[in-house]
Formats: sequence, structure tokens, C-alpha cells
Amino acid sequence: MKEGLNRKEIRDQTGSVPAVLDVNVEAEKDESFVIMGLSGSGKSTLVRCINRLVEPTKGKVYLEGKDGDSVEVTSLDKDELREVRRERISMVFQEFALFPHMSVLENVVYGLRIKGEDDPEKKGREMLDEVGLGDWGNVPPSELSGGMKQRVGVARAFVTNSDVVLMDEPFSALDPLIRREMQEWFLDELKNKFEFERTIFFITHDLQEALRVGDRIAIMKEGEMVQIGTPEDILQNPADEYVKAFVHDIKELAVEGDLI
Ligand SMILES: Nc1ncnc2c1ncn2[C@@H]1O[C@H](COP(=O)(O)OP(=O)(O)OP(=O)(O)O)[C@@H](O)[C@H]1O
Ligand SMILES: [Mg+2]
Repeated sequence: MKEGLNRKEIRDQTGSVPAVLDVNVEAEKDESFVIMGLSGSGKSTLVRCINRLVEPTKGKVYLEGKDGDSVEVTSLDKDELREVRRERISMVFQEFALFPHMSVLENVVYGLRIKGEDDPEKKGREMLDEVGLGDWGNVPPSELSGGMKQRVGVARAFVTNSDVVLMDEPFSALDPLIRREMQEWFLDELKNKFEFERTIFFITHDLQEALRVGDRIAIMKEGEMVQIGTPEDILQNPADEYVKAFVHDIKELAVEGDLI
């Protein structure tokens, strides 16, 4: 990658568009770390570099586990990477990505079966209870609403007890009322219960959602990180005009009474 150049300069010189450029982030083990930015700013690419669904052309990813052991994800071979994805990094996809031919319960326990865990069904049923879908284990995902499907996706990602959960716009496909409900559920139930010793990367393009669910927020623009801070930092000291524009929208909403 060309040192010091931005996306446009690199595109002009090489004809290629770098999706993510010069980004350096570190999230803690008990943190919900939000990545926010407009469509095309590189959020999904960045998060997919963490579990190497996208192979970074340059740069390194380190993962420090619950027991203090550290691995460099970017140097793992295929088998080691598969193990890390199975045991330590799980993911929730924007479009749910459930297996349509499996029951809800089978979707949730899939990862546990691959891991060879004892009594996956028991753990799966407990997890379904946690997400409020205890009675829905035996039906196919097609019988669920969007919000319920996303709870299954979340249950599947959390049941394996991984160190890191990547959530790529988990609530964006939901309509506003359900989205709000899911955010509250995420905060009250899920985060309080499961966040301990777990890192959550949560992508959104909605600053209001970012402010609600994030302990810290990283704002991306054209592949680069323009600001990393707590919700208060972002609101009080937006780093540039781009961040200011987001914050301005939020303040207008606040004035209209739809508070954060
Ligand atoms: N498979 C791909 N091939 C080529 N370019 C891609 C590919 N995926 C993403 N890009 C480019 O990388 C950049 C970042 O895309 P990315 O999907 O990471 O953005 P995003 O912030 O997640 O956007 P969205 O909010 O729309 O999901 C964009 O300019 C996009 O055109
Ligand atoms: Mg995306």
C-alpha cells in the first residue's frame, strides 16, 4: 500500500480502491466497540479482516484470549484459522444467514456440534431461552419474523462462548420499532449478561444506534478512521466536518424529542 496516500490518490495512481487504509484499533475484552460510517466506508471489510473472511493485503490482527494466550490471526494456517473461527471469533450477519433447512435449535447448536461439545442441545435450548425463543426451537427459520431470526443469529454467535463476536449491522434490516426493541434487548439482556470477558465489534451506519450500544465508537470515512472515542467524546468533540454532520443530525433528533 502506498504510504501516506488517501483512497482517492491511490485510486488515481493504481486504478485500485483500497477498502481499508492505515487503520489501527484495539478493543478490550469487556468492550462493545462500534464501527460506524457511511455505506462504502470500509466497515465490513475491516471487521472481516479480523476473522479473515477478507484477507488483508497488509497489516496484522492479534487476538488475546480469556486465558491470556495471544495469537496472530493473520499468520495462522488454514486449520488453525478454522479452529480460531470455531472457538474464538463468532459472527452475526446483517442478513441473518441462517440455514433454512435446519430447525432454529439446529442453527443455534451447529457451532457446538462442530466443536464436539457435550450435550449441545441442552446448551442450545438454554441459549434460546436467553434470547426469548425457548418455544421456537423446533420450527424452521422461515416461520420467524426478522427480529426473531436475528435473535437466532445472535444466539448462534454467543452460544459458543467465543472471545470475540463480530456483529455486522445486526439490526439494520429491521424496521425502526423492532430495531429499537433489539437495541434495548442487546443492552439490557445480552450485553450485561455476556459482555464480561468478551469483545464485541458492532457495525452500524446509524450514529444514534452507535451511541446507544457502544462503549467506544470508531468512525470510518473512505477506508480511514477519522475518530475513535466514547459516545461523549464524539458528541462533544467531533473530529471533523464529516463527524460533525452525523452529530448535527442527532442533535436535531434530540431537539425533536426523540432522545438518544
Ligand atoms: N468484493 C469486493 N470487491 C471489490 N471491491 C469491494 C468488495 N467489497 C467491498 N469493496 C469496496 O470496498 C469499499 C468498502 O466496502 P465495505 O463493504 O467494507 O463498506 P461498508 O462500510 O461495510 O459499507 P455498507 O454500509 O454499504 O455495508 C467500497 O468502496 C467497496 O466498493
Ligand atoms: Mg458493510
